[in-house]
Amino acid sequence: MTPRLSPTPVPATPFDLSAVRAQFPILKTRVHGQPLAYLDNAASTQQPLKVIQAVSDYHQQYHANIHRGVYQLSRNATRMHDYAREVVAHFIHAAEPAECLFTRGTTESINLVAACWGRANLRPGDEIILSVLEHHSNIVPWQMICEATGARIRVIPSNERGELRLDEYRRLLSSRTRLVAVNQVSNALGTINPVAEIIAEAHAAGAVTLIDGAQWVAHGVTDVQALDADFYAFSGHKLYGPTGIGVLYGKRHLLEAMPPYQGGGDMIEQVTFEKTTYAALPNKFEAGTPHIAGAIGLAAAIEWLETVGLERIGAHEQQLLRQATARLSAIEGIAIKSSAAHKGALVSWIPVDLPIGTLDIGMQLDLRGICIRTGHHCCQPLMDRMGVASTARASFAIYNDPAEIDRLGDALTEIIAAARPRAAGASAPKSAPASTAALVSESIGYAVAAADSPEAAAEAIAEVFDLLPDWPMRHQQIIDLGERLPVLPESLKTPERLVPGCQSRVYLVARLRPDSDGVIELAADSDSNLVRGLIAILQQLYSGQTATAILAFDIATFFKRIGLDEQLSMARRNGLASMVERIRRIAAHALQQDRHQREDRMPTGARPQQQVSN
Ligand SMILES: Cc1ncc(COP(=O)(O)O)c(C=O)c1O
Repeated sequence: MTPRLSPTPVPATPFDLSAVRAQFPILKTRVHGQPLAYLDNAASTQQPLKVIQAVSDYHQQYHANIHRGVYQLSRNATRMHDYAREVVAHFIHAAEPAECLFTRGTTESINLVAACWGRANLRPGDEIILSVLEHHSNIVPWQMICEATGARIRVIPSNERGELRLDEYRRLLSSRTRLVAVNQVSNALGTINPVAEIIAEAHAAGAVTLIDGAQWVAHGVTDVQALDADFYAFSGHKLYGPTGIGVLYGKRHLLEAMPPYQGGGDMIEQVTFEKTTYAALPNKFEAGTPHIAGAIGLAAAIEWLETVGLERIGAHEQQLLRQATARLSAIEGIAIKSSAAHKGALVSWIPVDLPIGTLDIGMQLDLRGICIRTGHHCCQPLMDRMGVASTARASFAIYNDPAEIDRLGDALTEIIAAARPRAAGASAPKSAPASTAALVSESIGYAVAAADSPEAAAEAIAEVFDLLPDWPMRHQQIIDLGERLPVLPESLKTPERLVPGCQSRVYLVARLRPDSDGVIELAADSDSNLVRGLIAILQQLYSGQTATAILAFDIATFFKRIGLDEQLSMARRNGLASMVERIRRIAAHALQQDRHQREDRMPTGARPQQQVSN
């Protein structure tokens, strides 16, 4: 039975925002000289001192490996870890702590179910129902297990408001449905899904359910038994706790019937070289030394959250959401992507008909100390469904102040107003006619060589960057370069020219300059100003250079020299790497073609022998 700890305390004192904020040391920091306004809570929440202290105390006073030592220190650490599981079970109203497995986070929780439950239960022709609102971590594991088992995925679509189409869900449910896996709150749009209804209907069809609660648990009461969820997944770092720790709740009878996830220490009952028998729940699914400090930090976070009170958290965040929605709706030039009737504390928007991308908005807000998220939010199928590459998203937590929403509104108004004159004055052809190939190639802004070699071009760029002392100035320099980049005709923005791996849309065109000795010329474009600036840099380095010179150039050292590797996000660096990779592949291909042409011109006897494999 659940060892009910003390009942969830009902806070006696009125909500005091400044007292809450005072518990988060990071909120006192400054970014680019501006006070921090942290509005990326759907990605990760900040940690209160209680959590930081609990983890630190553990490391300073209690650390030992658990389950193994006969000494007191180890027994104490084991007790603390067990207690953390009890806190989790109590928090989500699980029937017993053993049904709560510690994992690395939501992603691992879902992978565990896909691998273990999926392996044991899915057969060719079986169906898994997901929704279009899912995070990649609730799509890709299912694709992987479908590939292995022959099962297939069906997808619940959404309506124009960003709500799931339950009529379509009912149409998809059938005797073939084995599992329904949906999120409780969409991380990209904020839609709160009617998971109780979804679960009940899945059960009526004989299917098992998994709820991705990553975006819910910090914002409202979770009761897995009332929901009747079969599996429920969430992460500690979106719950004011540490990273690297999360939970998979599963009903005992399902977990017991599943094969283990990983083999190793702690998950066994008896091992011989002939056969291993497995430990009881929860250890069967927790091979190896767990993230003990993470579990302790997560429990501290939950206890802290309960002292604030989930109802109070929900009410405060909904007020912030209403304020942000009203403020952003009033800004001409941006469109909020979702008007779902029930929404969690986040707002997602795109710029409309402006020469500015969501990435540019994110980076300009960063320079004002405001942290938001831009990109596809690990929801590419949803972005495709909405016909956008990315959105900008502000997401709120209990410590956010209405004044921060005002700062966001003011900054956005300023950024959009600055983009508008460029829109009005943009003279470059947005969609050049493409009736003949000649006309198209005339209108492409293929860049000529900026210097004798990529190294010389790099030196010239670096000299300018060396004069700019900080990132805001370097950022502005990149934006300025982007503004001078010619616009690629719309007719050339075709899927095969789209560079994969970029969060903004990037189209790249290349040619071997006619009558040249292997000189490659490039033109490219993006919907983001910052990316246009990066393209301008790549053009200066590469365009007009020979394939050999392009392949020999060490761009990583150059990026380091001008500070790009440090200042760009990993997603942006990956996007940049994809562009470089595409250019290098074009150069390698040109070299290969050139070699073949030379060989074709040689007398037959002089050609190199073809390798023959046997
Ligand atoms: C809805 C949703 N599911 C899953 C995840 C993955 O969580 P984690 O990276 O903590 O495993 C996220 C993270 O943003 C999310 O928002």
